[in-house]
Amino acid sequence: MTQRVDATLRAAIARLDAARVDAPAATARRLLSVAAGQPREWLVAHGEHVLDAATLVAFDGLLARAIAHEPLAYILGERAFRNFTLKIDPRALIPRPETELLVDLALAALADEPTGAPVIDVGTGSGAAAIALALEAPRANVIACDISHDALALAAENAARLNAPIRFVHSDLLSSVDDLAPVIVANLPYVTREEIEGLPPEIQAHEPRVALDGGLDGLDLVRRLLDQLRAPARRAALRALFLEVGASQGPATQALAARAFPEATATIHKDLAGLDRVIGVRFNRPE
Ligand SMILES: C[S@@+](CC[C@H](N)C(=O)[O-])C[C@H]1O[C@@H](n2cnc3c(N)ncnc32)[C@H](O)[C@@H]1O
Repeated sequence: MTQRVDATLRAAIARLDAARVDAPAATARRLLSVAAGQPREWLVAHGEHVLDAATLVAFDGLLARAIAHEPLAYILGERAFRNFTLKIDPRALIPRPETELLVDLALAALADEPTGAPVIDVGTGSGAAAIALALEAPRANVIACDISHDALALAAENAARLNAPIRFVHSDLLSSVDDLAPVIVANLPYVTREEIEGLPPEIQAHEPRVALDGGLDGLDLVRRLLDQLRAPARRAALRALFLEVGASQGPATQALAARAFPEATATIHKDLAGLDRVIGVRFNRPE
């Protein structure tokens, strides 16, 4: 069995389209480029090239997973984040580009902190934000925690491969983290129970539920984290807190933060799409 590149792509795009997979043409080209071991541009320029049977079998396997709505990052086993590539698998949520805003805000806050200042990434998942912080703020002391052993194992593999010095702690929010940190970031589950049912199959059936479920209004974890941070020693140490939220949760989260910390300023930061994405809580403490 052999088939030309152009005919293979045409047939694959039709099948992906029929299965209502997003971006069928881009997905087909990406998967065929993996199966054929050739860059995507090569495929576009070599439509007449005849693919061998082994390539076609490998491609069919990848295509079947995409048609079953498995996310592309899980099929490929990787996802780019900032300037590095993370190993990705169903043990953790696929990092989203919006989370780079959380990293940018934390980096700016860390620039004001002394060498060795701790920064904690609560609910680290694949380790995306923690690794970015460790690589881009090498003066900081990065701690990352998660309630999922699976996610922590993946994050530790990623950190080791990327030479990012991070201490990982298995913890329900901050319960088992003893460090007091001036800077804390958290992209916790924020999908409401109702929204989970309406999520695309790529997310609902494949990404870990523990990474998505934020309770009735999506803010259960944020409320609990704010409560933990109000403990006197944690509160006294805290200078900047950044919480990633769903696009509709900006004002509600800002209000929760303002109520928990009336002495601080809570600001809504928008992502590149102009949507509410991160609540920044800054404490103006004397040096
Ligand atoms: C939305 S995912 C974000 C993952 C990662 N921070 C990112 O941006 O890609 C939320 C993460 O929080 C973790 N998580 C959920 N409940 C938690 C809890 N009670 N304590 C610590 N981590 C928790 C999940 O396991 C998951 O890895």
